[in-house]
Amino acid sequence: MNVLKTLAIAAAGLVLSFGAAQAEGQKTAKDISYSFEWPFGHFDREQLQRGYKVYKEVCSNCHAMHQMSFRNLSQPGGPEFSDEQVKALAAGYQVQDGPNETGDMFERPGLPSDRFPSPFPNEQASRAANGGAYPPDLSLITKSRPGWYGTINQLINGIGGPQYVYSVLTGYTPDDQLTEELKKEQPEGKYHNPYFANGHWIGMPPPLSDGAVTFDDGTPSTVDQMARDVSAFLAWTAEPKMEQRKRTGFMVMIFLGILASLLYLVKKKVWADVH
Ligand code: HEC
Repeated sequence: MNVLKTLAIAAAGLVLSFGAAQAEGQKTAKDISYSFEWPFGHFDREQLQRGYKVYKEVCSNCHAMHQMSFRNLSQPGGPEFSDEQVKALAAGYQVQDGPNETGDMFERPGLPSDRFPSPFPNEQASRAANGGAYPPDLSLITKSRPGWYGTINQLINGIGGPQYVYSVLTGYTPDDQLTEELKKEQPEGKYHNPYFANGHWIGMPPPLSDGAVTFDDGTPSTVDQMARDVSAFLAWTAEPKMEQRKRTGFMVMIFLGILASLLYLVKKKVWADVH
């Protein structure tokens, strides 16, 4: 009985302590499912490649992704572009290097070992270009949002970071659907988005519109599709070794299973005479 009580108190504590992660009035992220959920889930390579394209052509105009190097894109467990593709991809960027012999910084085409260059030289410049709002680095965004809402649904369906990103991208209220009250409240240069973690006015203009990118595999680029793909891609950037971790976990479970059966057999043998 005591055990049950302790468990119940622990569960209540968990819900209470994390419940506050959701800002007041913030909507719970939409519950959409991904191929990489659950213990055997894995990333869908084509989806990650499409997601990269959305990041590159749309998001990278404002958001950095500093934790990632170009070469990560060809490593196992990710989008798995070929080495040649990654070389070409990196060379399409200009990165700053130096200083050279005369002490000057210079620009050169990117190499696979380079990190993704940031669209702005510093935070001040990015705020200045975005009406004062700061577009955060997206490398780890799916790990830092949305936190635990404290609902059973989230526990079962694992509504997490990628769902949050998807919801922000698809959750704008069109300006012509704002209530009079909201219209009065609307700050200059902000958009209504009830999924945003930091109040329901966001400084990011709706970044996606149907057909914004052209997918190489012919998938129609609807807002919904692009939001799914780029959020899956950002789930990978936040945990590039997820597939490896799941595989290791599986091997450990098998090992523990074998160990448990052996121990059981040994126990039976050792105690055989006593019974
Ligand atoms: C025109 C610039 C711009 C583009 C393009 C853009 N963003 Fe943003 N984004 C911003 C700014 C500015 C903010 C910060 C908003 C604020 O703080 O009010 C932001 C915020 C966000 C947030 C919320 C972060 C948080 O703190 O919870 C997410 C998620 C996000 N962007 C994802 C994306 C994705 C994915 C793309 C590409 C599909 C994208 N953005 C394209 C400017 C941009």
